[in-house]
Amino acid sequence: MPDLQWKDSDSVGIASLDAQHQGLFATAHRLRDAMRSGRAATIQQEILAELGAYTRSHFEREERVMQICAFPALCGHQHLHRSFLEQLQAIQAELRSDRSGITPDRMEFMRVWMRKHVAIEDAQYATWIHRRELPVHGLTTTEIQEKQKCHF
Ligand SMILES: [Fe+2]
Ligand SMILES: [Fe+2]
Repeated sequence: MPDLQWKDSDSVGIASLDAQHQGLFATAHRLRDAMRSGRAATIQQEILAELGAYTRSHFEREERVMQICAFPALCGHQHLHRSFLEQLQAIQAELRSDRSGITPDRMEFMRVWMRKHVAIEDAQYATWIHRRELPVHGLTTTEIQEKQKCHF
């Protein structure tokens, strides 16, 4: 999985969401730099809190876009978002109790998740929105609404 770099191939075709993805990668990059250079745990906590808040607001915006565009796999995508936010909260709690700073394995988990999510899962709604070769385009509005329903 490539490093914390946003590339043109990551574009979802919506400028505001691309800008948020770039901002998220940049924030995670700062956190990793702080970890690697041994910055104080309180500084790392602040950057992680920033990353958490940024991620939350990005997910909200992205889910609104998916809803407006009638993306049928919205529910599954929301579930991925929700479980990542839970993981972030757990890492935040861990960092508050263990003052030695974020661990490399937690940092790597976040990096890999973010890279993969943008490159693979976000690319799926981008494909849908831009009407590229998806068989589900034959669905009726009612069928799409039914598929979007969440059961968790
Ligand atoms: Fe995203
Ligand atoms: Fe997403």
